[in-house]
Amino acid sequence: MKRKAFIFDLDGVIVDTAKFHYLAWKNLANSLGFEFTETQNELFKGVSRVRSLEILLELGNYTATAKEKENWLVQKNQEYLNHIKGMDRSEILPDVPRVLAFLQEQQQGIALGSASKNARPILERVDLLDAFEVIVDGNDVTAAKPDPEVFVKGAQGLNAAPSDCIVFEDSIAGIQAANKASMVSIGIGQKKVLHEAQYVFSDFTEISASFLQQLIDA
Ligand code: BG6
Ligand code: MG
Repeated sequence: MKRKAFIFDLDGVIVDTAKFHYLAWKNLANSLGFEFTETQNELFKGVSRVRSLEILLELGNYTATAKEKENWLVQKNQEYLNHIKGMDRSEILPDVPRVLAFLQEQQQGIALGSASKNARPILERVDLLDAFEVIVDGNDVTAAKPDPEVFVKGAQGLNAAPSDCIVFEDSIAGIQAANKASMVSIGIGQKKVLHEAQYVFSDFTEISASFLQQLIDA
């Protein structure tokens, strides 16, 4: 049996936390006196915390001191942590457990490749820490998506060649990172947003066992 490496993003792919990131950034923007829309938020998905703040301030035409930026990063993360502290397994996105179980049964490599520094506590809260053989998160990388570093490290951890890797991503930056790494890119979300992906599905309920088997056999 072939062993491929399946690398999952976390926020917006495994768990429904993308909405909490958005809310926290929106509140910060509003407190600084400008709007932040869901369309603008697409550019923030997959992007590191520090880079997200820079983009937010550019959008609001706002200049700030290093100290202010530092404070806002802490403030944003505290609000985010408040949102996620009540999380449980109900926040796992539909059919993610089915797909993980299928891949485990087929003895495939399974890794997490997330930009988040909060990845491990979130996985613990939703009881999925053991589902991943390898975890690469925002604490392990120096270059943020769309740089492929996070996925390249995931592949190395699973001892897999990039051409044997399949990445699940909800962000434009993450799809670009997977493509740059020459991995199969699968978008989870809207086709019009994730058109650079090789395949796009609304969610995992659309991903059949036979499609996964095709990816394994390819
Ligand atoms: C990504 C999210 O997974 O993690 C981004 O899509 C977020 O929105 C990034 O900015 C960093 O997350 P954290 O938890 O370290 O602030
Ligand atoms: Mg994501």
